[in-house]
Amino acid sequence: MNCKKLAGEKAVEFIKDGMIIGLGTGSTVYYTTVKLSEKVKEGLNIKAVSTSSSTTQLAKQLGISVIPFEKVDYIDLTIDGADEVDGSLNGIKGGGGALLYEKLVATASNKVIWVIDENKRVKYLGKFPLPIEVVPFAYHQIFNKLKILKLNPVIRKSHDNKYITDGQHYIIDN
Ligand code: A5P
Repeated sequence: MNCKKLAGEKAVEFIKDGMIIGLGTGSTVYYTTVKLSEKVKEGLNIKAVSTSSSTTQLAKQLGISVIPFEKVDYIDLTIDGADEVDGSLNGIKGGGGALLYEKLVATASNKVIWVIDENKRVKYLGKFPLPIEVVPFAYHQIFNKLKILKLNPVIRKSHDNKYITDGQHYIIDN
């Protein structure tokens, strides 16, 4: 059984006609996006705000209308993945590198649904490294402070280079 697919698709049931939807990033929300595109083809009328270039590309390819974040005053419902979630619904996000935009979109949303499979449920957060998105200008300073705090910071890499987010920032995993 593909639990990511089940969770990702289930969330689409909460999407109603006329809504502005925040679309998260990652392999679970992939299934949400595909299912949502099927509903759109059947006549569901929604607009989406995307949290990453990868989600924008996928949504547009699938025929979902994507509008810029700066064009909306609020978002009805955001559906996003998470890397780890505890019993009080605290979570870690950013494994896929889209955390700042995801958090900004979530903050503008009336409701947020996280779609996770059971492997991501934990008693205490911390099994998954905590990603922090940082502006390049300050990354060295922040990195040193995280070291002093004994958080074992590691700058995220893509091949041999530093990983660059859609917002042109770096990520430090802790
Ligand atoms: C993207 O930066 C992340 O916050 C994702 O939402 C998170 O990593 C979950 O991704 P998966 O659904 O691919 O596990």
